[in-house]
Amino acid sequence: MSSDKSPALTELLRNARLVAVLTIERLDRAVPLARALVAGGVRTLEITLRTEAGADAAAAIRDAVPEAIVGLGTVLSTRDLELAKSLQLPFAFSPGATPDLLDAAVELGVPFVPGIATASELIAAMRRGFTTVKLFPAEQVGGIGALKALGGPFPAARFNPTGGVSEANMGAYLALPNVVAVGGSWLAPAADMEAANWQAITGRAKRAMDAL
Ligand code: 3PG
Repeated sequence: MSSDKSPALTELLRNARLVAVLTIERLDRAVPLARALVAGGVRTLEITLRTEAGADAAAAIRDAVPEAIVGLGTVLSTRDLELAKSLQLPFAFSPGATPDLLDAAVELGVPFVPGIATASELIAAMRRGFTTVKLFPAEQVGGIGALKALGGPFPAARFNPTGGVSEANMGAYLALPNVVAVGGSWLAPAADMEAANWQAITGRAKRAMDAL
């Protein structure tokens, strides 16, 4: 096993408890969206690279909303990791953990949270020093039961489950000793972003944070 690459990241996620997973279609929505979430107490924002606006949205939030802790999501390639590095963001999430992604993250020194759905992927991540990983898609691959089971052979692993996490089940995930934070997209539905319905997003964020 190589040295632990995750302590600062683990701490960042442990403090966050809840990471908003955001897929931003329109760049002009990025900063007001981040402000709406921060107003509701959700400061840790994962901007997915699923849209053309994603990377610019992350940079815009980084520059305009200092209270937000912004990183990238849906990192699928070395190119995406290079982008994360050039933007100097404090975290980059991937739904997967292919050997080439893991090796590139080590080489580039990007604060990387690989996604795993199996014990083998977890072993590959931990072997390279990534002890904090995303369980994805959490609900679909066994959710709470899977996390409890993985805790047996992998007591040092820490998890950020995403995929099917909601206001209704986040508390049960966060009660597990090996879960540092949960992630979810439910806080900011596309329709609210499109309609600039920032109050609804702040309200959802506040309700979630109050429940934690
Ligand atoms: C992710 O990329 O982490 C997921 O798409 C989030 O899953 P959710 O949409 O079910 O919250």
